Amino acid sequence: MRADGIDVDGPILGIETSCDETAAAVVSQAHTVMSSVVSSQIDLHARYGGVVPEIASRAHLELLVPVVAEATFDAHVEGPDLVAVAATYGPGLIGSLLIGVSAAKALALAWDVPFVAVNHLEAHLYAALLEEPDLEMPLVVLLVSGGHTLLIRMDGPGDYEVLGSTLDDAAGEAFDKVARFLGLGYPGGPAIDALAMTGDPTAIQFPRAMIDDGWNFSFSGLKTSVINYVRKHPDVETADVAASFQQAVVDVLVTKAGRAAREMGAKGLCLAGGVAANSQLREALLDVCVADGIRAFLPSREMCTDNAAMVAAAAYYRLRSDGPSPLDTGAFPNLALPTR
Ligand code: KG4
Ligand code: ZN
Repeated sequence: MRADGIDVDGPILGIETSCDETAAAVVSQAHTVMSSVVSSQIDLHARYGGVVPEIASRAHLELLVPVVAEATFDAHVEGPDLVAVAATYGPGLIGSLLIGVSAAKALALAWDVPFVAVNHLEAHLYAALLEEPDLEMPLVVLLVSGGHTLLIRMDGPGDYEVLGSTLDDAAGEAFDKVARFLGLGYPGGPAIDALAMTGDPTAIQFPRAMIDDGWNFSFSGLKTSVINYVRKHPDVETADVAASFQQAVVDVLVTKAGRAAREMGAKGLCLAGGVAANSQLREALLDVCVADGIRAFLPSREMCTDNAAMVAAAAYYRLRSDGPSPLDTGAFPNLALPTR
C-alpha cells in the first residue's frame, strides 16, 4: 500500500500498441499473469514486407476494445476492481501509441482508477522477472528488438545503466532487412531462424563488427556483406546464408553480453525483446552462462516478443515508486530507457 492509499498489489490492466501487436493483459504484483491476449497484425503487413504505420493504427483502433474485453473477461475482473490501467507511451509508432494511450486514459477515467504510462523498453526488461520473480541483481540484460539493441546493467526496478547500444541498425532490423533481401518475407527474424536450422552456420565467414571492442554494436556492415556476397554468388544455398548471417549476429551479441556479465559481476544474464526468441541466440547464451557459471534467464518466446503482460509488470513498479501518471501524458515515438 502506498502513502496515497493506492494498493498496488491488486490486478493491473496493461495495454500494448506500440507497433504491430494489439495486446492487453491483467497481471498482479508484476508476476501473477491472470490473462494475456496478443492479437498480431502480421498478416495485414506481410504483403508490404514491413509494418505500414497507417494500417497499424487503424487495426489497433478496431482490435483494442475486443482485446481488452477478452483480457478482463479471462482474468475474471471488472474494470473498477483494477488497481490501474497502464499503456505503453513510447517508443514506437506515434499513431499506434496514441490509440493505446488514449484508450487507457479513457478506461482509467471511466473506471475511476489511476493511469500509468509505461516505457516499452522498460517493459521488455520485466519479461524475465515476470517468470522468475526471485531474480537477483545486478543483472546484465541484452535487449534486442526490431528497433533497439541495448546492453543494460540493471541494479533494481527503475535502476538501469545503458552500457552499450547499436550505432546503426538494431539486431531485429538486420534480421528483417536480410530476410527481405533473401525473399523470406516479414517478419524476418522467425523466417531466418527457421531456415537457418537447415543451413551450415560455418559456410560463409561474415564479419563480426566490434566483437572485442567496447559495448556498442554495429550491424549495417554485416547486412551489406550479406547482400554483396549473394550478388557475387547467386547459386549459394539460401539456408547457408541465413545460418551464417545468424551465427555472426549471435556471436557478437553473446560475446559482448557474456563479457559484460563477467566484468560487472552480474548475478545473472537476461535476454529480452523479440530477437530473444531466436533459437540460436538462446542456445549460445545458455552455453556462455554455463561455461562462466552465470545464471541465464531466458523468458518464454511469448514474453520476448511484444505483449501486454510485460507492460502491466513494469506498471506495478512505476506505480509503486512514482504513483499514477498525469492524464495529459502524451505519446513519445523516440522515448529512451530511463537511466540513473
Ligand atoms: O520486441 P519486438 O516484438 O518488437 C519491437 O519492440 O521491435 O521485436 C520484433 C523483432 C523483429 O525484428 C523480428 O524479426 C524479431 O524481433 N524476431 C526475431 C525472432 N522472432 C522475432 N529475430 C530473430 N529470431 C527470431 N526467432
Ligand atoms: Zn518490443
